[in-house]
Amino acid sequence: MADLSDRASLDVPPSWSLALRRILEAPGVVLVVGGTDSGKTTFCKLLARTGAEAGLRVSFVDADIGQSTVGPPGCIGWATVSKQGALTEKALWFIGTYSPAGHLPEVITGTRTLVARALRSKAELVVVDSTGLVRGWTGYQLKTAKAQILRPRHLAIFAGQKELGPLPLVLSTLRSVRIHRLRVPAGVRKRDPAERRAYRETRFREFFSECSELTFAFPDLFLWGRSWYRPGTPLTEAQRVELERRLQITLAHAERKESMTFVVRAARELERYAESVPAISRRGVRLLPVETWKGRLCAVEREPGDALAVGKLLSVDFKTRTVRLLGRRLARGRGRILKIGAEVPV
Ligand SMILES: Nc1ncnc2c1ncn2[C@@H]1O[C@H](COP(=O)(O)OP(=O)(O)O)[C@@H](O)[C@H]1O
Ligand SMILES: [Mg+2]
Repeated sequence: MADLSDRASLDVPPSWSLALRRILEAPGVVLVVGGTDSGKTTFCKLLARTGAEAGLRVSFVDADIGQSTVGPPGCIGWATVSKQGALTEKALWFIGTYSPAGHLPEVITGTRTLVARALRSKAELVVVDSTGLVRGWTGYQLKTAKAQILRPRHLAIFAGQKELGPLPLVLSTLRSVRIHRLRVPAGVRKRDPAERRAYRETRFREFFSECSELTFAFPDLFLWGRSWYRPGTPLTEAQRVELERRLQITLAHAERKESMTFVVRAARELERYAESVPAISRRGVRLLPVETWKGRLCAVEREPGDALAVGKLLSVDFKTRTVRLLGRRLARGRGRILKIGAEVPV
């Protein structure tokens, strides 16, 4: 697992030193807010390492699901920090995408849950890193809600960035939260989308090097992509048989959503029925090959977000009621939800 000791040529502005000192005088939960490439993660690592060196019990909660420090991208991660700056992963909270846009409630809930777990484990300093999504109404909602629900003792915000808009002012209204204004250091490097993608790939490669093939009994609920918001209800056996008779095809699985019946079957069979698909679609039925999900990021969860295992989906077999993934088992217990997210780049 990664550590926090890669700090050879660090430019530490006076505003950073001051914030470090004031935070370590009264440790607690620290939320760090700023735009993309402002130095958030660098500051978080420096703070966590300095706190650990000073003898505090330190946790790192990494809510940056795009450019992760703890765990693979797509997940919020919680790790403890050793005195030497080594990270030990404790839990992953599954989001399934590489940006919080469209998933604000899950990101806020997950961050809150992992911070609470860190505090229950007696952490004295909890450093919370986050994405650079601060722009516009979405950024305002995300950062304001997160700050209010976490009620951190300290909030470190990168000042002087246009994209923050009203956030510094809004966050300064929070009672009992000490605000620290940080300067974007001269040494910050802007990273282009290709570099951010490459970093994600590296994080995934590291993660998969510690994964193995896992098999789970089919959970109660099966959710994927944007339609998590509209989970379907599986058809009863009788309804499925009736649908098969009407469509003249064999279905691997069928479920009803708000207005459509969602049907899954093998791709090779789909071809045979290709001609009838457009007509069927017009009647509110969508056919989807079961292979659609192969290779996607997925999690088997105890309850929404709370991952028992995270990995890359290998297969979903509706007949034997099993799910296979190349993944890592994180906790014991029974998986109730299979959630399928974005494509994995490696
Ligand atoms: N204080 C600093 N001194 C030198 N380099 C820095 C410093 N802060 C950030 N950087 C570099 O700038 C880039 C972006 O910093 P990072 O902390 O990842 O930003 P953010 O988390 O806000 O996106 C990284 O390559 C990082 O190494
Ligand atoms: Mg970062």
